[in-house]
Amino acid sequence: MPLITRFSCSKVELPAGVLSIDGEMNLTVTHIRKTFQNNGASKTILKDVSFAVESGQFVSLVGPSGCGKSTLLTLIAGFQESTAGEIRLNGSIVSRPGPDRGFVFQEFALFPWMTVRENILFPMKQMKMPRPDQAERLQKLLSMAQLEGSEHLYPSQISGGMKQRTAVIRALAGDPQVLLMDEPLGAVDHQMRQILQEELEALWMKNRTTVIMVTHDIEEAIYLSDRVLVMSAQKGQIVRELRIDLERPRIRTDPYYLEYKNQLTDVLTADRHD
Ligand SMILES: Nc1ncnc2c1ncn2[C@@H]1O[C@H](COP(=O)(O)OP(=O)(O)O)[C@@H](O)[C@H]1O
Ligand SMILES: [Mg+2]
Repeated sequence: MPLITRFSCSKVELPAGVLSIDGEMNLTVTHIRKTFQNNGASKTILKDVSFAVESGQFVSLVGPSGCGKSTLLTLIAGFQESTAGEIRLNGSIVSRPGPDRGFVFQEFALFPWMTVRENILFPMKQMKMPRPDQAERLQKLLSMAQLEGSEHLYPSQISGGMKQRTAVIRALAGDPQVLLMDEPLGAVDHQMRQILQEELEALWMKNRTTVIMVTHDIEEAIYLSDRVLVMSAQKGQIVRELRIDLERPRIRTDPYYLEYKNQLTDVLTADRHD
């Protein structure tokens, strides 16, 4: 059943390049199962999760708290292993973390003892990138995130928006094929959150790295995503997919936008009552 039923003409032109499928990145998650053992009891959080992501897409994973969103993202990151199923990035099975996947943690998780510059250089040093390349990439990232002039400040000295941009470009420093973000805007108030969503989108529009973002915020998913995958806690699966065919930047008062929001709310509410 199509999710947007009331609007037959909901498909609109996207700005060139937003869905720039260059065929270079391909991520497949196939029949993933994840069981945790707790004091002798075993609990299967993810029962059978499958989806694929193509280059340049911004994909959100939404679902109720505890449904396994973070677990799924950490499996893709390679921080832990699945019980069954496989995840492939460009054909290769994911079994450990790698520079091809950048990760943005909740509340940004910048190193407070490092300046903006040192935070961004950190992954490049970890990768043993040659020094001239580090310097060049640093400048490019600082410029992209409009952080030039702030590189010698510490996280405690910069605004929420600047912290977010630093966290994102730190994750982009190793030139990952896919950027994984776990509730990157989780801990801020509503108004700040909307500002950060706009900043995040502007940054993404410049870079267009493939993104998989976990969020429990419906509005955030609609504002940022090309695709929203809805996870169910009871089923341990992705139960719905919503494609957001709206021009960017999105207008929060646009009737189509509000309709997507209603649709997603309905899907999540229906799952709770299943
Ligand atoms: N390492 C672990 N050991 C046991 N249970 C875990 C572990 N990690 C997560 N869980 C459980 O798995 C469920 C899903 O967690 P999580 O992926 O963090 O959900 P979400 O991010 O959707 O809120 C929760 O019930 C959580 O307690
Ligand atoms: Mg989580």
